[in-house]
Amino acid sequence: EKSGFPHFMLKEIYEQPQTILDTMRGRYSFEEGEADLPDIGLTNEQFAAVGRIWIVACGTSWHAGLVGKYLLEEMVRTPVQVDIASEFRYRNPLVEKNDLFITISQSGETADTLAAAREAKQKGARVVSIVNVVGSTLARESDGILYTHCGPEIGVASTKAFTGQLTALYMLALHLGRVRGVLSKADGKAWLERLVTLPTLVKRILAREAEVVAIAKRFYKKRNFLYLGRGINYPIALEGALKLKEISYIHAEGYAAGEMKHGPIALIDRDMPVVVLAPRDRLYEKTVSNLMEVKARRAPVIALVAEGERELGMTADAVFTVPDTHPLLSPILFAIPLQLLAYHVAILRGADVDQPRNLAKSVTVE
Ligand code: M6R
Repeated sequence: EKSGFPHFMLKEIYEQPQTILDTMRGRYSFEEGEADLPDIGLTNEQFAAVGRIWIVACGTSWHAGLVGKYLLEEMVRTPVQVDIASEFRYRNPLVEKNDLFITISQSGETADTLAAAREAKQKGARVVSIVNVVGSTLARESDGILYTHCGPEIGVASTKAFTGQLTALYMLALHLGRVRGVLSKADGKAWLERLVTLPTLVKRILAREAEVVAIAKRFYKKRNFLYLGRGINYPIALEGALKLKEISYIHAEGYAAGEMKHGPIALIDRDMPVVVLAPRDRLYEKTVSNLMEVKARRAPVIALVAEGERELGMTADAVFTVPDTHPLLSPILFAIPLQLLAYHVAILRGADVDQPRNLAKSVTVE
């Protein structure tokens, strides 16, 4: 059932070109430049009336939600608040009627996420959930649903569900952007054209797994890792760090690159590899200067950069190039090498990647 792969996690990483496609399949019209989301549960008028957007989730799904904030605020120009479900539900949140409340969950059974959705519903918000498991409790209790259609995810470390969630968020952002008049038909078409190239780009990254293995071999004995990203790739730094700690038991932290000088820089020395995410976007130069500060303190730098990039390639100790794409789509591509890195570091350390200690696939306790 692992289709020849040594672990479910690796199999699921490799399924992503297909699962990303499955999340999009049949859900858009090129001619209209629009997403077609029949189960979304809200009429165009209701979407147009939405005041604020909330995204609430846990763990990796919360990271997808953080990417969603950058995406929705850019594509829909509506304020988005992202919360960890266990924080949201206990603080008497200021949800109002006409708010759009998005939850994200692979399992659809996470206790805190479910409780948050119930609370929001009770306060009059409309709940739309991005869920992988068909017929799960969250799917049944939501007003609208966007299935990720990734198939069963067995590995405790979430991989294909995460990129499925991001893909679903693009579809939702496209729909909202069109309905609310922020995106024109031509804009919508341009988005769809970019989206459909993702599976091929992911395949190209997977074909270079050996490069990630080489990086893992150089650094797997380290005890701490720092992951830095900016803007829409800041949540990907968090996700990269979470993947590493879950399955390799190495302490890892994700940080917004610009925050480094406000504290974590004190930790940096030659024993702390720093993974830097540097897509070609308007923040690129800023990220390069953060990297220089890291280098000056002799930390080994693992740079993930856009193809064709030279500057960082010269300074970093290890470089992995990622196909150049629209900045808002880059998170999906940057997530893939980080999944592979966590996987190979864990394997080199002899850890059981499919069943990491102390973790359950779905967290139904509060
Ligand atoms: O099923 P859910 O998406 O609601 O699960 C949320 C988290 O428990 C989950 O993402 C967890 O953080 C994963 N083990 C991450 O790899």
